[in-house]
Amino acid sequence: MNRQLADSLNEKLKNSSAVEILEFAAQEFRGKIRFASSMGVEDQVITHMIASEKVPIEIFTLDTGRMFYETYELIEKSEARYNIQVKIYFPDASEIEEMVNARGINLFYKSIENRKMCCGIRKIKPLQRALKEMEAWVTGLRREQSPTRNNMQVVEWDEANQLIKINPLLEWNEQQTWDFINEHKIPYNTLHDKGFPSIGCQPCTRAIQPGEDIRSGRWWWENPETKECGLHLKKNK
Ligand code: ADX
Ligand code: SF4
Repeated sequence: MNRQLADSLNEKLKNSSAVEILEFAAQEFRGKIRFASSMGVEDQVITHMIASEKVPIEIFTLDTGRMFYETYELIEKSEARYNIQVKIYFPDASEIEEMVNARGINLFYKSIENRKMCCGIRKIKPLQRALKEMEAWVTGLRREQSPTRNNMQVVEWDEANQLIKINPLLEWNEQQTWDFINEHKIPYNTLHDKGFPSIGCQPCTRAIQPGEDIRSGRWWWENPETKECGLHLKKNK
């Protein structure tokens, strides 16, 4: 597994459809590939493709313990609609206890260091556990979501996790995503209808006004350049 493989797969797949990418990746990394779903609208598109085309890729989500109730509802709705199981990963209980007892239950508002620690314990470590023994993972990232996502490739080498990372919806725009959701009547988070285009943890996500940047409701007190929880950074710090 390495960068060259990622580059050659990228060359091969960069003009393929999202379903073709998923089907090819499932064959290439048979049983060693998983899809990380945050239950966001892009992820629901991918879940629909995986379930309806019976692509052998397991779906998991990282439950940080601070999600919106609507997100939990959507997990149940999706499992029922597609007859699938979304595997849930939790953070380590004793690490959470130590962190919040030392720094406060809502520590993330107090400093960027605290916020990164919280994302580290609640998301990055569980992600590492979910990807252990894997060779590749699939995400719902889209290029236009953020300046930090500008240089991504459909297939790329994920240095931080030492895995191939596959972003089948990288070139999709927002309209295309919603057209697909509506056309196939795919269940989605009801918060999307209430001004939340991008949904993460409840205390770190708020609604935005029409015309605002789609990620401006995430960690709104930070600069756009720092606004990544670390799941998609080039290197783990
Ligand atoms: S984040 O880094 O800012 O939190 P974002 O919400 O845009 O990420 O989601 C981008 C992609 O990261 C999703 O499509 C999904 O593949 C993955 N992801 C983000 N949060 C989670 C989560 N809680 N569980 C599983 N995957 C996630
Ligand atoms: Fe913690 Fe907020 Fe990161 Fe969720 S998004 S893990 S609550 S800092």
